[in-house]
Amino acid sequence: MPKVLIIGACGQIGSELTYKLREIHGNDAVIASDISYNNLDVVNSGIFEIVDAQDYSSVKICVEKYQIDTIYLMAAMLSATGEKYPMKAWDLNMNSLFHVLNLAKEGFIKQIFWPSSIAVFGPTTPTLNTPQHTTMEPTTVYGITKQVGERWCEYYFKNYGVDVRSLRYPGIISWKTMPGGGTTDYAVEIYHQAILDGHYQSFLSENTELPMMFMDDAIDATIKLMQAPSEAITIRSSYNLAAISFTPKEISEAIKKHISNFEISYEPDFRQQIANSWPKSIDDSSARTDWNWNHKYDLEKMTSEMINQLRKKYQNSKINS
Ligand code: SER
Repeated sequence: MPKVLIIGACGQIGSELTYKLREIHGNDAVIASDISYNNLDVVNSGIFEIVDAQDYSSVKICVEKYQIDTIYLMAAMLSATGEKYPMKAWDLNMNSLFHVLNLAKEGFIKQIFWPSSIAVFGPTTPTLNTPQHTTMEPTTVYGITKQVGERWCEYYFKNYGVDVRSLRYPGIISWKTMPGGGTTDYAVEIYHQAILDGHYQSFLSENTELPMMFMDDAIDATIKLMQAPSEAITIRSSYNLAAISFTPKEISEAIKKHISNFEISYEPDFRQQIANSWPKSIDDSSARTDWNWNHKYDLEKMTSEMINQLRKKYQNSKINS
């Protein structure tokens, strides 16, 4: 039975990973942690600790206290915020990774999950069906940290036998916890605004196509990768991972099938340039071959689920207020 620590458990992906891993391993086997108590659903759902991912001893104390053997390092500064605070993004994204890699190298933990991103690619990368191995010249600080991080993961695996596994997540869409500071965040905000307002002003232009994925698929991929036998993992930098690709215009059309008077307008900002540097679609055949990855949600199915769940959520919060 693994003993799991999630660092960054209050965030968009960390929170749902916490709930899922607790379902699988039991509440006491999964310790949620973050730098503050900023997601009370997570804090109140089981064991929760304050851990500063940038402070080696803070992470180590928690690992020793609970005899942790597996860490999911979900704390990071994403692409848009990273451009505002380049050095902070570098420090957070790199220091936290080294702390966890070194804990494994020193024998305190056995397994690591560390997310990478489509942001590792850049304007010189082929944009359609981007291959696993290709030109990578990221132009955002976030992308640079993820690319460098991938190199270090592979290095620690090859030289120190550290069992670190990683996925290049596309934009992740979910209804439980909001994302923060990413370029793909529009694809979550749009659903909230559609329900609350009937209108959304997109910060990306109408034909900006990006790779995306529904949260349930992202969690499923993460758990499948972590449960795969070590011999099946042929890529120790990070796996390409894909499900769907769409533009703001296409997602707005999918929403109109449920909310017929929904309207979208476009006011691109600095995030447009970030989006322009990323692929439109991803070839993830290595993940599909090595550990049987398969996505379940297309744009239509995801849109129905998002709208149903968010309607319920806003209905309940009205009743409770
Ligand atoms: N969702 C991330 C971002 O937009 C990409 O990995 O920064």
